[in-house]
Amino acid sequence: MKHLLCLNDLTSEEIIGLIDYADKLKYEHKNGIRHDHILRGKILGMIFSKSSTRTRVSFEVGMKQLGGHALFLSSADIQLGRGETIHDTAKTLSRYIDGIMIRTFSQKDVEELAYYGSIPVINGLTDEAHPCQVLADLMTIRESKGRLKGLKLAYIGDGNNVANSLLIGCAKTGVNISVATPAGYYCEKKYVEAAQKIASTTGSCIDISTDPVAAITDADVVYTDTWISMGMEADREKRIKDFASYQVNSDLFSKAKPDAIFLHCLPAYRGYEVTEDVIDGPRSLVFDEAENRLHIQKAVMATLME
Ligand code: CP
Ligand code: NVA
Repeated sequence: MKHLLCLNDLTSEEIIGLIDYADKLKYEHKNGIRHDHILRGKILGMIFSKSSTRTRVSFEVGMKQLGGHALFLSSADIQLGRGETIHDTAKTLSRYIDGIMIRTFSQKDVEELAYYGSIPVINGLTDEAHPCQVLADLMTIRESKGRLKGLKLAYIGDGNNVANSLLIGCAKTGVNISVATPAGYYCEKKYVEAAQKIASTTGSCIDISTDPVAAITDADVVYTDTWISMGMEADREKRIKDFASYQVNSDLFSKAKPDAIFLHCLPAYRGYEVTEDVIDGPRSLVFDEAENRLHIQKAVMATLME
């Protein structure tokens, strides 16, 4: 593992290995065992071209707990935002720091940064993928259900970056995934095809439809995300109409297994993709999920930057 650009770059064993490592780091952290020897003196640059709460704070806190330091680099303030190339940014930053986390629009930019730089690059969300989120999701599911293989995850809503990464993450770990999106809001074809190919070796089932009821029936895990991802704000009104029958409310949620858990990467918009009774209900694990971003990213950074 040299970078974390997309979950497809990781083997199934590497994903499980990261979750095992994150579980250990979480347990030790809660028992007062310090990790500040692991990346002592190392520096992570965090480039943000989009807003963030969880990613920004969990990477910065994680780096501090590992004994290193994180630099917040808003793309509006660095020269990248004024047209300096990714190529020159990658080469320059490689002379100063030990790793880069980037949140931006184009997946190609993240790949270019990794290609031209000489330090590990971590994808902190692009329009296509959100691999750190899905690693935390898989960790949260295993923590709650005790296993991954053979479970059914239903993703209801927009076929966005989180959905694309869930397809790959579930396929790699043997989780069956049913994705229901309105017509025209499907996951990217290349992610669906990649997931189907992986699933043929791991035995997981990949089901893509426009039917939220069929998708959620008998699910162990129910997942949704905002209908309006960052960059889609101009389509807000149309999206709210197109997604109206894809809301995870108590009626839809009742069709999942009685012990199904609810996940959402956050930020959530109550009354749109999910109702308050579901996200704030007893089977919602959204804050464990948010917490696990910290532990899994510590495992990722320690693996890539040690
Ligand atoms: N889930 C997630 O990535 O949250 P932020 O946008 O707050 O980082
Ligand atoms: N799909 C959302 C995820 C936010 C963490 C977005 O891209 O805005």
